Amino acid sequence: MSLTSSQKSIIKATVPVLAEHGLTITKLFYKNLLREIPSLNDVFNTANQANGAQPGALAYSLHAYAQNIDDLAALSAFVARVNQKHASLYVRPEQYEVVGRYLLAAMGNVLGDALAPEILDAWTAAYWQLANLMIAREAEIYSHEATWSDWRPFRIVRKVHETAEITSFYLAPTDGKRLPMYRPGQYISVQVDVESLKYSQARQYSLSRAARVEGDSYRISVKREKGLSVAAAKADGHNAEDIQARPGYVSNVLHDHKHVGDVVQVSHPAGEFYLEPTSGASDVESASYRPDHPVVLISAGVGITPMMAMLEAMLCTSAAQERVDGYAGTNNGSKAKTVGTCPFTSDGDANANEALKTSGYTGSTSVSTGLQNGHASIHTNGHTVSPSPQSKNVTISSTTAPKIHFIHATRSSLHIPFLPHLQSLQHSHPAQLRLTIFNPSPSPMAQEGLDWSFRERFSIKRLQKDGLLDSALEDEGSVYFVCGPEGFMADVRRGLESAGVERERVRVENFGAGV
Ligand SMILES: Cc1cc2nc3c(=O)[nH]c(=O)nc-3n(C[C@H](O)[C@H](O)[C@H](O)COP(=O)(O)OP(=O)(O)OC[C@H]3O[C@@H](n4cnc5c(N)ncnc54)[C@H](O)[C@@H]3O)c2cc1C
Ligand code: HEM
Repeated sequence: MSLTSSQKSIIKATVPVLAEHGLTITKLFYKNLLREIPSLNDVFNTANQANGAQPGALAYSLHAYAQNIDDLAALSAFVARVNQKHASLYVRPEQYEVVGRYLLAAMGNVLGDALAPEILDAWTAAYWQLANLMIAREAEIYSHEATWSDWRPFRIVRKVHETAEITSFYLAPTDGKRLPMYRPGQYISVQVDVESLKYSQARQYSLSRAARVEGDSYRISVKREKGLSVAAAKADGHNAEDIQARPGYVSNVLHDHKHVGDVVQVSHPAGEFYLEPTSGASDVESASYRPDHPVVLISAGVGITPMMAMLEAMLCTSAAQERVDGYAGTNNGSKAKTVGTCPFTSDGDANANEALKTSGYTGSTSVSTGLQNGHASIHTNGHTVSPSPQSKNVTISSTTAPKIHFIHATRSSLHIPFLPHLQSLQHSHPAQLRLTIFNPSPSPMAQEGLDWSFRERFSIKRLQKDGLLDSALEDEGSVYFVCGPEGFMADVRRGLESAGVERERVRVENFGAGV
């Protein structure tokens, strides 16, 4: 039911109140909710409660909602992100009732007599208007996931140490059924029991490679959160005033206690940060790139994970795409063609190093990375692609392939995952892919020009100075995908903005809570 105009006026009049008291309200709401319904501790992120991120995100969303009550379309990107997160955690319609009850009660507790009955009525109606919108959108997402709409047990079939801090987990469903496709850049949620808390916790992890044609496992790559000191957090670009040195719950359980053969709970692929090709001539759609325009992938630290999937997907499917008309992913019910079917014969993980060494190419690499041009057999109904198993050293030559600039910022040579795989891709796609690595402290063994490009921290200015962004900056159809610590992403955004790139051509993924 939509709001009356007088209710809308009341909601607008509460904007300053929400600005002042919103966070107090949401903090109290979560405190009461989680104390009185402890089973919800499994659902909400305990660290985001402790560090205030989740109460902050909810307060932000209520304030933005009140501000835009006349034009909810302005919130659609934000709400879509929340819908995806909710759906990836299997938030249920009936939970909106309890959340609404505790939220409105917290408003009453904080505002006291100032919450006059007509204001409470207006906020009750406003809450339910928003809740119903979200329930409907989430129902739509679940309906596209008809065969996968609750936590599903997955076995760890492989565990690979990519760096001292980052480990990849290959996850296969215990039911052995084929997995749905996903879009490059999307994430899954992984839920594990956390012994120290005595309840379970879920976290999101980007799928760190393009969807495989075999569809039998997903790969995530998890950074161990050792626990940040204030100084380390600041250096990492976090807003670190209240960061404490407690190790992260889920990443440490995965690193230390989950081994090959163990089972974790997994949700379906989700998220709005993905890319797919468009033939649209003029406007740049939200997740799309145009194959005839440059794509710039910029990451720092573990923010490299969605970029790996995007990169592989673009290289793998740019040529295949035309041949696979209508080869759509099953998730999210997209009508769009899905980029991301990847017939790589190497996994692009640390083990690929061995293959690289034996390939005879020293320095950079030449392990197989492509489908055999012209020989892929693709069955659109059965979702199978069968490149020759011998398809080694094959370069995709495609006139529609985008120019891709993969830019990564690392702290040191010890911290770059997937480097051999990236070098291999660059070697096999020299015309299509440029690789730039910022590394302020390369190891003595690391080779300039191969293992690192700049012995300094990342900056857009440096790229501009060396002309490395020229083709992207000169092209109004170029798009930029960015993922890394918050401070890093803010720097990239500012840098691109001052270089004249419009905001809508820069897409970011936030590994924290909220916007
Ligand atoms: C869309 C998305 C994709 C993601 N993809 C990846 C990925 O591919 N790889 C990856 O490694 N991560 C990824 N993440 C991050 C991941 O979901 C987790 O947030 C991360 O693994 C940390 O979880 P944790 O349970 O180990 O740490 P948490 O327990 O959640 O703790 C997180 C941090 O908060 C600090 N903290 C704890 N308590 C407090 C407190 N009281 N006050 C202040 N600070 C505190 C901890 O010290 C720690 O550094 C992604 C997140 C999102 C949203
Ligand atoms: C109108 C009602 C609601 C609003 C406005 C809302 C808003 C939000 C926002 C803004 C986020 C942060 C999203 C992000 O990190 O990107 C979020 C996350 C989340 N919400 Fe909701 N939400 C609502 C209802 C619910 C309900 C009913 C549940 C179920 C119990 C729920 C469970 C969660 C969970 C589990 C998360 C992730 C938590 C975390 O990472 O700490 N929400 N929600």
